[in-house]
Amino acid sequence: MDVELEKYRRGYEKAAQYYNLFTNNEDLPFYLSYAKNCGSPILDLAAGTGRVSLHLARNGFDVVSLENSSTMLAEFRRLLGQEEQETAKRIQVVKGDMRSFDLGRKFPLVIIPTSFGHALTTEEQILLLDCVRHHLLEDGTFVVDLFPAGNQPEYGSFEEPAVGIGNDRTVTRSGIMRSHLLKQILSLKITFTISKTSTGEVLEKIHQESAVALVYNREFELLLRHSRMMIVEEFGDFNKSPYSEGSARRIAVTKMI
Ligand SMILES: C[S@@+](CC[C@H](N)C(=O)[O-])C[C@H]1O[C@@H](n2cnc3c(N)ncnc32)[C@H](O)[C@@H]1O
Repeated sequence: MDVELEKYRRGYEKAAQYYNLFTNNEDLPFYLSYAKNCGSPILDLAAGTGRVSLHLARNGFDVVSLENSSTMLAEFRRLLGQEEQETAKRIQVVKGDMRSFDLGRKFPLVIIPTSFGHALTTEEQILLLDCVRHHLLEDGTFVVDLFPAGNQPEYGSFEEPAVGIGNDRTVTRSGIMRSHLLKQILSLKITFTISKTSTGEVLEKIHQESAVALVYNREFELLLRHSRMMIVEEFGDFNKSPYSEGSARRIAVTKMI
């Protein structure tokens, strides 16, 4: 076990209730189109607060959502409680680790929105791909969206616009990211600042540290080859533009060989 990496594992524990406020949902139509192509049930790995699972279930698909953070799961279940019963009953939430799980069933579609990099080492990525294989139907599809390592900044910082959360309070999210090229890790230090909207007084600051693996393109192709998977389609964004070397994303639609 790499002790250095362990500190990054709980990067979603402290601010799950604010997670959805800062997400970009541009990927939802893309995942829905693959749900329409492949059908139910869909396995959503590292499902978080259920952002993608809920969208698929609202559109009539059955989803099994696997996630290992207790607080993300608690937020997911709270949101599920606010859904129409018809939608809620299409989702089965499972607490589990995407690097080691066995649900005892197979799926026509497995997705892992924005989360492949949370398998931080090559060993973990292989374990994850083995689990995916084990849960795919013979002609099943695994969609994985990556942030190609070669296109990530060595250092960056951001501050997002404040979002109102009721009771005269707003929350902002700011952070710094750093690429550790030898370790192939992008570390993220994120701060959520909760303030009084009327006066600007800071009420609370929540600090979180997480990381994702920096996966290079050829490395990803080797990982797939090792796990006897192949890319059947790939895109550079969620509008299905072709993937090119300049693309900020690499979205690979894969199948078992
Ligand atoms: C960036 S969030 C993405 C959540 C969701 N897929 C989405 O797109 O909104 C990453 C999620 O991966 C989860 N995660 C990280 N490592 C995991 C693991 N080994 N097994 C299951 N979930 C994991 C985190 O707890 C977090 O909820």
